[in-house]
Amino acid sequence: MSDPGSGSDLDAVIDTISVIATKRDGGELSDAQIDWVIERYTAESGDVVADEQMSALLMAIFLRGMTRRETTRWTQAMIDSGRRMDFSGLRRAGRPLVTVDKHSTGGVGDKITLPLAPLVASFGVAVPQLSGRGLGHTGGTLDKLESIPGWRADVSSEEMVDQLERVGAVVCAAGGDLAPADRRLYALRDVTATVESIPLVASSIMSKKIAEGTGALVLDVKVGAGAFLKTLPEARELAETMVALGTAAGVRTRAVLTAMDTPLGHTAGNALEVTESLEVLAGGGPADVVELTVVLAREMLDAAGLPDADPARHLADGTAMDTWRAMIAAQGGDPDAPLPQARHTDTVAAEESGVLTGLDAMAVGVAAWRLGAGRAMPGQSVQAEAGVRMHAKPGDRVRTGDPLFTLYTQTPERFAAARAALASAVSVGQTPRAAAPLIIDRVTVEP
Ligand code: URA
Repeated sequence: MSDPGSGSDLDAVIDTISVIATKRDGGELSDAQIDWVIERYTAESGDVVADEQMSALLMAIFLRGMTRRETTRWTQAMIDSGRRMDFSGLRRAGRPLVTVDKHSTGGVGDKITLPLAPLVASFGVAVPQLSGRGLGHTGGTLDKLESIPGWRADVSSEEMVDQLERVGAVVCAAGGDLAPADRRLYALRDVTATVESIPLVASSIMSKKIAEGTGALVLDVKVGAGAFLKTLPEARELAETMVALGTAAGVRTRAVLTAMDTPLGHTAGNALEVTESLEVLAGGGPADVVELTVVLAREMLDAAGLPDADPARHLADGTAMDTWRAMIAAQGGDPDAPLPQARHTDTVAAEESGVLTGLDAMAVGVAAWRLGAGRAMPGQSVQAEAGVRMHAKPGDRVRTGDPLFTLYTQTPERFAAARAALASAVSVGQTPRAAAPLIIDRVTVEP
């Protein structure tokens, strides 16, 4: 006999068309409807909910939204579609290890995970960082790390535990059994224009993070032209929703709202961003990348119970770099190997003199993608060497003819499309504007 309320029992009383119609007409889905539709869409044998029906439901959710209760249940149903990891048994020298992770909602030039994971781990905290690949204009952490000769993203659960206990940080691909419903739903959202929905983004991110089993989580929620959510009220709502979801699931969760109008650092592209991250780990690097790395590290260390730790010191004295080297070597990478370099370069020069007043993150992301740094379809390969170097950032003075961008690729026929993407990427004025803050606000759970 099956459990009361199991998928097969509910088949008699719930059908896909009425679930879609409820949401289409602005109604609230019941817990049973949510559990059933996710289970029937994901089950190996389940052909009850077809892709075209789930596409219609996703569009109805995109247009009508979901209440907090619905979003919480939707997230739980996605977690329940797979396995939950458990790091509570992690030990070093016989003592339990605290786990803390960070997740960014995605931006251009966002290489922060690379210096951040080893930096936080260098304080004796375990950082299990399950990361993704880039799709569209945003880069992916795994694509960046794969430009290091020998480094591999696929790590078994046993290897992950061993690396966390020995080194402290692991950045790797999520196994196929971690929130598999999200994998299918995300692929469908990507081709049905239903990505930018607060309940769908929140449940997608938080189902993976809760299933991953981290004890604490810091979310970097991006706002602006290069982010999924363009306005502060939308980004704040996303942050509040995710903090509430994490907290309700027992994960100490907080969020930082950060600006993504301008790319982070001076590079966008895989090997280029690894090089820039190494500069940060060596105690230098672009000011905005250092600032965000240190702010997020402080939040993570505070959430892990180390409020007085000083991350800037571990960047300056090489401690974080030592952990980086150990982290890369543990996954087969050679931290001393030269990174791949593009065979072809091109330069875009300033057409007028003045002060740079704007540098559009989306345009730079699209240019890097067109040069070969990103993929248009899941599974495509990317060029480790491709990308864009930005020679000037907002506030810098430029003169006519100065280089604004260097473009890198293995396939020079891509230059024209990348130059087109950058055609109106910069604005130049005569009077400097006050720099907009990178860190906009923090979102924590109300006491
Ligand atoms: N990242 C995710 O994992 N899911 C989303 O929906 C958006 C960004």
